[in-house]
Amino acid sequence: MDRIGQMQHTIERLTRPGRGILAADESYPTITKRLSDFGIESTEETRRFYRSLLATTPGIGEYVGGIIFFEETLGQRTDEGQLIPAACEAQDIVPGIKVDKGAVELAGSDGEKVTQGLDNLGDRLDGYVEQGALFTKWRNLYQITPELPSRQALEANAEVLARYAAIAQSRGMVPIVEPEVLMDGDHDLARCAAVTEAAQATLFEALRRHRVLLEAIILKPNMVLPGKGQPRPAVETCAEETLRVLRRTVPAAVPSINFLSGGQTSEEATAHLNAMNQAEGPKPWVMSFSFSRALQNPVQAAWAGIAQNKEAAQQAFLHRARLNSLAREGRYTA
Ligand code: 13P
Repeated sequence: MDRIGQMQHTIERLTRPGRGILAADESYPTITKRLSDFGIESTEETRRFYRSLLATTPGIGEYVGGIIFFEETLGQRTDEGQLIPAACEAQDIVPGIKVDKGAVELAGSDGEKVTQGLDNLGDRLDGYVEQGALFTKWRNLYQITPELPSRQALEANAEVLARYAAIAQSRGMVPIVEPEVLMDGDHDLARCAAVTEAAQATLFEALRRHRVLLEAIILKPNMVLPGKGQPRPAVETCAEETLRVLRRTVPAAVPSINFLSGGQTSEEATAHLNAMNQAEGPKPWVMSFSFSRALQNPVQAAWAGIAQNKEAAQQAFLHRARLNSLAREGRYTA
């Protein structure tokens, strides 16, 4: 298969009806924090056990079409001794890999961030392909204040995200492009909508400049929500605002929009996804999930670092994934 055919095939597998994506690609500091919230120590072995538990959950391939991993996991094995990417394929789940190297201060800005990781990216991707990864993820983050994000931050981040996507596609890997507008702060819904629109508009200009094939990307945006410090409007209001921004910015050529959960509770994230799929009006893309916390929090709570809880943890994962699968079709009832 040629490069474009390969990406089309990966997109088809990731977007099959009822499926979404699990983001299990937390970097060392992030997974350490997530696990410690449930009293679990992050070691090479607990990370292996946990991520293998996710990938080998019986029946999970019905709801999860792809899992994004962190580099370490691609070389780890399940309890049965199978490499984790192969265990995913055995359930018809596409293995993916987070390839950015995190955010650093954007020099010359007022404390804003830019994501790094472009150096040697092509060579790194060649190695990930050998390990079985077929798609990639890169996350930008944008902080909202009354003055920020600046034009400088919007453009610098759009440029690196587009360059990453072009490099991934040159290897036949589907890029997930993630411009995350953070929920931290006291801003209102309208401010989040305006910043999300600006971030996406700037991103799509850059994707075009770098000749990224829009048919072979997945967009992973935040939902439009007010800052954490504000009361949450009705689920339908946030869904409508999110859709309004997406319709203005995301070309119909993009096959799938897989939202991040961004610190919402599991129930909120599922309800918002469901409301968007139920809403009236044009929706030319698949709208599904690429949640990390909203899928994994209940799993980590059920596991609690105790090996005997493995089955209960897998049940919790299956349950939450099934509800999000329903929401992806607009068929979830709380
Ligand atoms: P959350 O769903 O927890 O926001 O994580 C998604 C993700 O992968 C962030 O990069």
